[in-house]
Amino acid sequence: PANVERNTDGVLAVSGLPVTDIARDFGTAAYVLDEDDFRSRARAFRDDFTAPFDAVAGADVYYAGKAFLCSAVARWVMDEGLNLDTCSGGELAVAQRVGFPGERIALHGNNKSVAELRQALSYGVGRIVVDSFAEIDRVAEVAAELGVVAPVMVRVTVGVEAHTHEFIATAHEDQKFGFSLAGGQARAAIDAIVAKGDRLRLLGLHSHIGSQIFDVSGFEIAARRLVALHTEVADVHGIAMPEMDLGGGYGIAYTSEHSPLTPGELGTQMAALVDRELKELRDGHPDAPLPRISIEPGRAIAGPSAFTLYEIGTVKDVEVAHDAIRSYVSVDGGMSDNVRTALYGADYSCTLAGRTSTAGPRLVRVVGRHCESGDIVVMDEYLPADIVPGDLIAVPGTGAYCRSLSNQYNHTPRPPVIAVRDGVARVIVRRETIDDLLALDVDEPAPLQEVR
Ligand code: LLP
Repeated sequence: PANVERNTDGVLAVSGLPVTDIARDFGTAAYVLDEDDFRSRARAFRDDFTAPFDAVAGADVYYAGKAFLCSAVARWVMDEGLNLDTCSGGELAVAQRVGFPGERIALHGNNKSVAELRQALSYGVGRIVVDSFAEIDRVAEVAAELGVVAPVMVRVTVGVEAHTHEFIATAHEDQKFGFSLAGGQARAAIDAIVAKGDRLRLLGLHSHIGSQIFDVSGFEIAARRLVALHTEVADVHGIAMPEMDLGGGYGIAYTSEHSPLTPGELGTQMAALVDRELKELRDGHPDAPLPRISIEPGRAIAGPSAFTLYEIGTVKDVEVAHDAIRSYVSVDGGMSDNVRTALYGADYSCTLAGRTSTAGPRLVRVVGRHCESGDIVVMDEYLPADIVPGDLIAVPGTGAYCRSLSNQYNHTPRPPVIAVRDGVARVIVRRETIDDLLALDVDEPAPLQEVR
């Protein structure tokens, strides 16, 4: 994060607060989140990203809560003037709890329950992104039941192969999300929505091509295909849909291998490509208003703002080949608080956080405390050769999809999230306890079976 640097004692500090104090006061493992860094990246998307779109038809930013959401984060997003993308009744409940304005919320999901649709429509969310024919009927029914008109967008599978991990690419044809463009389903979905015009208001088209993407060319193809469909809808139904959403997916640097564009640079490139692709609409319908663009970055806002602070528990040298030693460094967390390495082969780095050292480098593999050999936090890293149990290490870039994908494997309580601002730390998600875990566990002796 932006405000993290070593103090004069060589201890990593977040806006002046040493991690040794954080570890002492809150324990490890812990996610440490630099609040100003999160807020300034949110603001950069709101201002610098959207500014170049003023020359087109304007743009809005929806923070994708799936990256990381809690009440404090929802408030920051609300304060900074961004909108919020939710994808479950639970995320929506967090937004409702802090009074996030309904009209600034989107609801996603490929299998929303009727209860979630009721929750969203009673709260007055600004958009429901529909994902199936069954759902179009369901939304219309719930809207009728509540006596409202539901604002909907259509999730379109644009058929772009994003260059990212297979599990986080979402717009190629053979996967579960959206209405296929090539197969004509997207058009049919629009016709179905238009036919229910008394209960559904068609806001526009939506696409999300994947995540951890560095090259905007995939967005250009997506925009081209959405504009073509948008134009067709204007031709056939005489409807000028007011909005168009290009989803999230902007990549961040987990290691020095990547240097992502700034929000301002991204905005300039995205506005230029949107402007190019809107030509088809302008030519066909010179008088029609252009759709306002929205995007849904999650990782690019939350990811860089946090690091995970762990304490080393063991250092074990393992002979992996003749004359080749690998040092396995075990920390007090692992795949329960960061499953991304195990799940996607994600790359992370780490650094000795509680002190500096003049010792030479030692190649290590940082592993967790769980009962799986795939429980790896950092695959390969050089740490000073004199690391010992009790040393603190920090793994940067864990603000997105770490806490939100966390689990309690091996009955491991999940770490807290500690937000630091102006050198002051506060708990925004408390540490889970064994009692929290036991509270879910119904300890009732089974009734004895009568044996005849
Ligand atoms: N909008 C939609 C409809 C999405 O499905 C997603 C992410 C986003 C926006 C935000 O994408 P972002 O800007 O954060 O890349 N667990 C994976 C990432 C899964 C992303 C799912 N959808 C990971 O840890 O890499």
